[in-house]
Amino acid sequence: MCGIIGFTGELDAKNVLLEGLESLEYRGYDSAGIAYFNDDGIHTIKTTGKVSSLREKVEAAPKFHSTCGIGHTRWATHGGVSDTNSHPHTFGKVTLIHNGIIENYHDLETKLAAEGKYPVSQTDTEIAAMLIDHLYQGNPMKALKEAIKYLEGAYAFCVLFADKPGVIYCLRNGSPLVACHCEKGSIIASDMVALIKYSKEYFVLPEQHIAVLTKDQITVYDINDKVVSPKMLYVNWDLSAAMKGGYPHFMLKEIHEQPEALRSTIIPRVRKGNLPDLSGDGLPHTIIDSINRIIITACGTAMHAGLIGKVMFERLLRIPVTVEIASEFRYQNPIMDNNTLVITISQSGETADTLAALRLAKTSHAKTLSIVNVKGSSIARESDYVLYTHAGPEIAVASTKAYTAQLSCLYLLAFSFALEKGKVTEEECSKEMEGLLQIIPAIEKALTFDVLAKDISKNLKDCEDLFFIGRGLDYALSCEGSIKLKEISYIHSEAYAAGELKHGTLSLVTEGTPVIALATQSNVYSKMISNIREVRARGAMVILITNGNVTVDSSIYDYHFALPHLSDDFAPFTAAVVLQLLAYYTSVHRGLDVDQPRNLAKSVTVE
Ligand code: AGP
Repeated sequence: MCGIIGFTGELDAKNVLLEGLESLEYRGYDSAGIAYFNDDGIHTIKTTGKVSSLREKVEAAPKFHSTCGIGHTRWATHGGVSDTNSHPHTFGKVTLIHNGIIENYHDLETKLAAEGKYPVSQTDTEIAAMLIDHLYQGNPMKALKEAIKYLEGAYAFCVLFADKPGVIYCLRNGSPLVACHCEKGSIIASDMVALIKYSKEYFVLPEQHIAVLTKDQITVYDINDKVVSPKMLYVNWDLSAAMKGGYPHFMLKEIHEQPEALRSTIIPRVRKGNLPDLSGDGLPHTIIDSINRIIITACGTAMHAGLIGKVMFERLLRIPVTVEIASEFRYQNPIMDNNTLVITISQSGETADTLAALRLAKTSHAKTLSIVNVKGSSIARESDYVLYTHAGPEIAVASTKAYTAQLSCLYLLAFSFALEKGKVTEEECSKEMEGLLQIIPAIEKALTFDVLAKDISKNLKDCEDLFFIGRGLDYALSCEGSIKLKEISYIHSEAYAAGELKHGTLSLVTEGTPVIALATQSNVYSKMISNIREVRARGAMVILITNGNVTVDSSIYDYHFALPHLSDDFAPFTAAVVLQLLAYYTSVHRGLDVDQPRNLAKSVTVE
């Protein structure tokens, strides 16, 4: 949530900041602002709306030339969306931007009021600016270190002190900050996408450390003022990966990037004889030996990937697996011990609830393994083991390629654990792996449904309610289909286990109600067809998705996607593509902002 950027160096700060904010906009987009040093001090320009509105305001402002500044794109938490509540916030000598939440801002506000200091905005961030200014007596490091003692919550700050021109002070506790120094100066941001134009090498600012950026260098200090050298990381994608590349939206581009994302995620993990090999990820194959219970915890789409993982793990390992919504799990006093494996899944690696769930698991001595897309992110760093999805940057708020890449990691784990536990022979495992490899060309074929999905979704654009139904793996995938449609088309939908409909919800199915019916699993295929007949008899408009071109009574559906045939376990990969395309085009037909849907942000770093 919220994107932040800071630059000091030889380039025009205006361009670096605005371009950086454009690339970070997916993190929050209700308002934006910049602050920069000019000859006569710090200037701030901010506005509600998107970065394009900020750009207009900046272009219209009297000419400035600055080489040092900070920028912010906001996802409101405290205080409504208004120019005043937008960042940066200035108090006294301090101007700052913030990503996170100051939980005790009200107490701090009361204390500052007793000193005769009052904010002008309704934000927690301004209180942080006031506090730091209150503690500032000419030594920024000292003021920031002092502030840590008072501040509760999550924060990443970039701070300008009016009497320290050309220098940016950054402090991190909970919310992400990555930085790099390049030929043209020093740059820091919430996410690597804003840095990639300048460098492929970067570091993650460690928790409770302060980074001081000057045009010549970045110095990182720990809480005891000791200079530290954070580990340098390297991204294997380039600027083009973070651009639309001719597609009208990032979401469509990312849907089409799935074959490549899966290739990069799976192929390096296949060894001779078509067997899974996770040793390159530092995963000892013995990790599963003492495990008698697996808990998968995550949020949203990542949690839906876990639902599919559960089916695969239980089927292959015969170990009980539960899937827990991270925001619930963290407060449920869950049962875990050192024989429990807790798998957290996260694209961003920064989701606050998932991170808290991971930390909770660690306190119970459970083994922790994470499936993460962003290198060096908090969840990746704090887990005992990490399996990275190599999906490349995912910019659209709706997760697509990260989801299928997460599924592929779960399958790799399931096969590798089953082999280690002796639940499958090498020969059987190799056959499963062959199935996994086949999903790549199958997804390429599924992508050719683009035109059909575009056409069919015209029938969805005006509906108010919609159902996704399925059984087994198809039910798990229905949950994902439903959230995808909801978040970008704003159409209400529900995912239902098909056999459960008649226990209440069938009363909502009337003439014309769209029902997207997944029937890819042969063990429940005939049951599923009966369930489709039930909704059909109530007048439902049925969009049927099958695994391969099965013979099916054409009177039970209006539209039919016959997916390229795969063995049942792998059908969620291709079916997911069709559901993503249906959601995408429904949103497009409704004329909505596909990549940046209302009220949402890509990386949910607050509770
Ligand atoms: C996906 O389309 C959603 N925008 C959302 O549910 C997302 O998957 C969830 O917030 C978890 O994010 P993470 O993978 O970065 O942890």
